Amino acid sequence: MKQIKKRQDLIKAYLDFYESKDHVAIPSASLIPANDPTVLFTTAGMHPLVPYLLGQPHPSGKRLANVQKCIRTQDIDEVGDETHHTFFEMLGNWSLGDYWKKEAIEFTFEFLTKTLKIPLEKLAITCFKGDKNAPRDTEAADIWLSLGIPKERIAFLGKEDNWWGPAGDTGPCGPDTEQFFWSSTEPAPKKFDPKNKHWVEIGNDVLMQYVKDEKGNYHTAKQQTIDFGGGVERTVAVLNGLTDNYQTSIFQPIIKKIEELSKRDYGVSEGVTKDMRIIADHIRAAVFILADGALPSNTEQGYVLRRLIRRAIRYGQSIELENFTAKVAESIFPIYSDYPELKANKKLILQELEKEEERFNKTIEKGLMIFNKKVMKAVEKKRKSLEGKKYVGLDLDKGPIDTISGKEAFLLYQSYGFPIELTKEEAEKRRHMKVDEKGFYKELQKHQTLSRTASSGKFKSGLQDNSEQTTKLHTATHLLNQALREVISPEISQKGSNINPERLRFDFNIDHKLTDEEKTQVEDWVNEKIQEGLKITKEDLDLDEALAQGAQGEFGAKYPPKVSVYTITDGKKTISKEICTGPHVKNTKDIGHFKILKEESVAAGIRRIKATVGEHDK
Ligand code: ALA
Repeated sequence: MKQIKKRQDLIKAYLDFYESKDHVAIPSASLIPANDPTVLFTTAGMHPLVPYLLGQPHPSGKRLANVQKCIRTQDIDEVGDETHHTFFEMLGNWSLGDYWKKEAIEFTFEFLTKTLKIPLEKLAITCFKGDKNAPRDTEAADIWLSLGIPKERIAFLGKEDNWWGPAGDTGPCGPDTEQFFWSSTEPAPKKFDPKNKHWVEIGNDVLMQYVKDEKGNYHTAKQQTIDFGGGVERTVAVLNGLTDNYQTSIFQPIIKKIEELSKRDYGVSEGVTKDMRIIADHIRAAVFILADGALPSNTEQGYVLRRLIRRAIRYGQSIELENFTAKVAESIFPIYSDYPELKANKKLILQELEKEEERFNKTIEKGLMIFNKKVMKAVEKKRKSLEGKKYVGLDLDKGPIDTISGKEAFLLYQSYGFPIELTKEEAEKRRHMKVDEKGFYKELQKHQTLSRTASSGKFKSGLQDNSEQTTKLHTATHLLNQALREVISPEISQKGSNINPERLRFDFNIDHKLTDEEKTQVEDWVNEKIQEGLKITKEDLDLDEALAQGAQGEFGAKYPPKVSVYTITDGKKTISKEICTGPHVKNTKDIGHFKILKEESVAAGIRRIKATVGEHDK
């Protein structure tokens, strides 16, 4: 097997291979989806590509490959074992209506066996066994057979295992064929048993040929698409003969730092090892989320970020770590020197971690007292009830012995900074106490601070939102971007943007808080352009050409070699030209009235405008 020591070696081997098969390497999208209000984080490489999987032509062509930063929080409770992570990197390649199963499987096979030199004896495959929506995938199995995978090493499984997508409730999906690696030092059994935990999944070719609609029906997709995904952490581990991802070069510098700070060794006691893995995982995720512009808060991405940091702090306490999050974070930057957003935001990331740790430190002990008192009281009560009776033991291990009420959980949240998930975890640790979660949300609603994250089921994945309202907000964002340069300073440029159906959010560099007069001028400029009924056109250009034409982009953002450029013109002169994935209205008249809702600071020298369009009080 090829000795791949570092993540960069694997990534290079992978991208070189797919480039040699005429794929264009595109950059990783942000962890925070720009146009998708239905989901908090990018969860797979396919996620930012959904419009292209559905048929929109991609400016870089029909064969793409990349490495995508991903966050998945649904398995957060599993983090602490050898393989689960909240943040991970995914190798991805796509055929957008170009090659199909045969080539996709041949490419995957060649990459695994020739480039990575994985011996055939260590490989096994699963294919879809078929159901009422789609037939048994003997076609995929036959291709694997023709390449030399023995029949006994191919298993057919149902939808739970061999079907991927849609990413949300609706959208592109299909059967998949997964590749497994034998990770034990013992020789692999001849017959493949997918339940044997030594078989580790290292890759997944999704054969997308269906689109699921709102009613749950499957339709044949307009184009057949290949969506391959493979985990970087896992692949580096197996190529180095490791079953524990935290022992790879990706995690070792972080683990070493935690060992040094805690004066404890990794891998000796199970409890300490688990604490160290959780700390390493959560701080790595927090560093990447901060680098993409979210800050700890009680809503949306900021809330998940807060949960991750505070959970890491709690686990840090079990190994007597104090004021450690920024120190641990320091060890992460050299591992990911290929992500410029980490380097560029290093100061801010470390400061934010320190600030969040300070905030939580102020209240954490008082919060924990609530749990302890509650347990003591419940134990006392139980003891009293047994007084005078024949002693049969307190039976306390059978728990739960009490419930944290909705009001108490809310107090913990509001006054002591305990995210509800952390309260549940702390309660469970103490004699399996329960938490009245419903009661908590009722309280939260009463106090009108209901976090949208918790209420709108946004932890689920979803599809890009191309609704009429977000389309209008997209074009309004381009006008706002230009207005700031026209009205305030030509030095202003975009530092971040996020759109949901309720509002646009735009971050930009400026050395002062906008005055009321400036805000009105910006609004007036945008509304004037809306009323003029300007046309918007789209062109696909080479990135160099787009930049040469003066198209605006986001400084620090990584763009693929071919990009879409949207131009707003009045017929004679260009009003705005930006690199963007869209979608946009055809004419600015379609936007309606533009209004600034809020202007605030996000970081030193960076301010944020939230604005909306449509029918509102003008
Ligand atoms: N989208 C597929 C996955 O996440 C490749 O596994």
